[in-house]
Amino acid sequence: MQRVKIKELLGNTTAMDKVLVKGWVRTRRDSKTFSFMELNDGSCLKNIQVIADVSLDNYAEVVKLTTGSAICVEGRLVASPGKGQKWEIHADHMDIISMAPEDYPLQKKRHSDEFLRTIAHLRPRTNKYGAMFRIRSEMALAIHQFYREKGFRYLHAPVITGSDCEGAGEMFRVTNLDLAGVATSGKMDPSDDFFGQEANLTVSGQLSAEMFALSLGDVYTFGPTFRAENSNTSRHVAEFWMLEPEMAFCDLDGNMDHGEELIKYLTRHAMEQCEEDLSLFTKFVDKGLSNVLSVLVNEPYERITYAQAVDILLKSGKRFEYKVESGIDLQSEHERFLAEVYFKKPVFLTHYPKTIKPFYMRVNDDNETVAAVDLLVPRIGEIIGGSQREERLDVLENRMNEMNLPGEAYWWYLDSRRFGSVPHSGFGMGFERFLMLITGVTNIRDVVPFPRTPGSIDF
Ligand code: 4AD
Ligand code: MG
Repeated sequence: MQRVKIKELLGNTTAMDKVLVKGWVRTRRDSKTFSFMELNDGSCLKNIQVIADVSLDNYAEVVKLTTGSAICVEGRLVASPGKGQKWEIHADHMDIISMAPEDYPLQKKRHSDEFLRTIAHLRPRTNKYGAMFRIRSEMALAIHQFYREKGFRYLHAPVITGSDCEGAGEMFRVTNLDLAGVATSGKMDPSDDFFGQEANLTVSGQLSAEMFALSLGDVYTFGPTFRAENSNTSRHVAEFWMLEPEMAFCDLDGNMDHGEELIKYLTRHAMEQCEEDLSLFTKFVDKGLSNVLSVLVNEPYERITYAQAVDILLKSGKRFEYKVESGIDLQSEHERFLAEVYFKKPVFLTHYPKTIKPFYMRVNDDNETVAAVDLLVPRIGEIIGGSQREERLDVLENRMNEMNLPGEAYWWYLDSRRFGSVPHSGFGMGFERFLMLITGVTNIRDVVPFPRTPGSIDF
């Protein structure tokens, strides 16, 4: 007989004489002649109730089943007289696949997020983290669906790279350990990074995406990205997933239109396709979340310049920890104030001073600002960072000189401005920050299966 997943069973419209389910026991309670189990198989948030009675040949074993034990049940799917569940299974036969010992850490009680982080290998078995990681899976696929519908091509940008896209020097170095060589010579050869060349883990796939946008038109990359910033914040991890669309013949306004359409599409998708899992977060994690979601899909996003933003912050009368003055790199407290308190919705900031932005951003006519854009959202701050790119070879070369970037190392990048250069734009959206936004989860460690932060590399 074929096994059926619980998600499918719960959606059934008729009773069934014979079903086969496999899963893990969440709880068990006994009456005189029955044992009632809540069974979960990870396919959905809900459990199905399984009822075993004394007629089972291994009933004596069944009543010893502990939380976390795995079983295989053959039985009948019947309408449940109980409240809150449509179906239950009356077991005709039950195999105990494995019995969890009493020290299984996920006994039925509330566990703190801090505690669950210490058992990242087990936490997806809880309701909250099961829901989180089903949503994460669905949203990753929704990104591909969005871009497929729009006719974008999916680019696999390299993870190992010689360049530093953001120029912030926050890269992890890749080393060819060559353990056999170390054993014979007794020392590591520092010149032997990537077969003799310096190499890093990518901080952004953008430069590769630009090359492909100038070839295939509209592309996106979506993959793991690495930052060696040693910052212990609730919004940074050393390894995260970034979505990076890059569009030829697209200016800054087109870039913002695209970002807004993307966030609206993904949020709506989550509300429709992850309704049950998302309800756990709207009910138990963040009471204001439903309102945030509704603003995200229904309201037009605000668009202002960096200078206007600084003005608003200065006039707000609010005392920020990090003092506001023109030219500063806005901190998350400033970003949150703008999106959460002042506008109460997502806000795009453009025209940042060129002094705080990377080399590839298009210089504006004032020669002071660049065609940068960040999208700031309530509760998070920056979720998207992007720009129109500098397509003019001479301006780009001047800027690189100003910033002491070696033109030789970027010869291939400059080629794209030499041969058929066109205006183009793109951005990066932090996938984890998006998940925080739609679930109301406030610590980025809780939206990543196995978060990579200083001190967490065990799992
Ligand atoms: O603003 P960033 O640094 O932009 C870039 O890397 C551009 N090259 C992207 C592009 O134009 N193609 O990063 C983009 C986004 C941020 O807005 C943030 O959401 C996320 O990536 N991000 C992080 N998320 C988690 N942990 C970190 N350490 C992050 N650093 C950036
Ligand atoms: Mg940024």
